[in-house]
Amino acid sequence: IFRAVIFDLDGVITDTAHLHYQAWKETAAAIGITIDPTFNARLKGISRMASLALILRHGGKERAFDEAERARLAARKNARYGELLASLDSRAILPGIPALLDALAQHGIAVGLASVSLNAPFILDALGLRARFDYCVDASLLRHSKPDPEIFLTACAGLGVAPEQAIGIEDAQAGIDAINASGMRSVGIGDDLQGAGLLLPDTGALSWRCLQDFWSTPPR
Ligand code: G6P
Ligand code: MG
Repeated sequence: IFRAVIFDLDGVITDTAHLHYQAWKETAAAIGITIDPTFNARLKGISRMASLALILRHGGKERAFDEAERARLAARKNARYGELLASLDSRAILPGIPALLDALAQHGIAVGLASVSLNAPFILDALGLRARFDYCVDASLLRHSKPDPEIFLTACAGLGVAPEQAIGIEDAQAGIDAINASGMRSVGIGDDLQGAGLLLPDTGALSWRCLQDFWSTPPR
């Protein structure tokens, strides 16, 4: 049986994508760039500064802002995101997650978090879930972003398991690619993900039983 499950945060444990979108939309509007939900989908799982770079390119303004100005824009977005996060509590935990975390604890399976969000510790605290995670990757120490496997390999090392003994759960394409590149087995949440070992429509379909069944099915 698998020894660890490593979760992405945004879109798997809780859904903050609409709050990121709101904060980026306002920040982009202030510099004359319009973003829509279709464009926003491309920011899933992408770090703060990389998201800003994509937005500037989208608006044809990648040359208009130097590093200091980019840092200021990112700080502005994050301040707004922080305001929007203020009302977050355990009601924002996605369906299926509490029961799955209970079952993993019961069966002695290690639980890790692999989020590129620098707000991840704060969000886990707000959701009341921090104690349920045996190891959380510190995103500020990463050198490569998803789809590079670094974040998942770091989580496996932190939990003391080999990637071949672990399952990763992700809602973003870059995340599924990162899991697959790490040698772990991937579970995707959503409907437009390529290459997930198991694809589920939403977190409500996640369970101890379905992870066990998935693990006992040989990889394709
Ligand atoms: C997650 C989200 C991204 C976000 C990133 C960084 O991966 O899916 O949309 O840009 O975290 O979040 P942060 O809280 O550090 O700005
Ligand atoms: Mg995500």
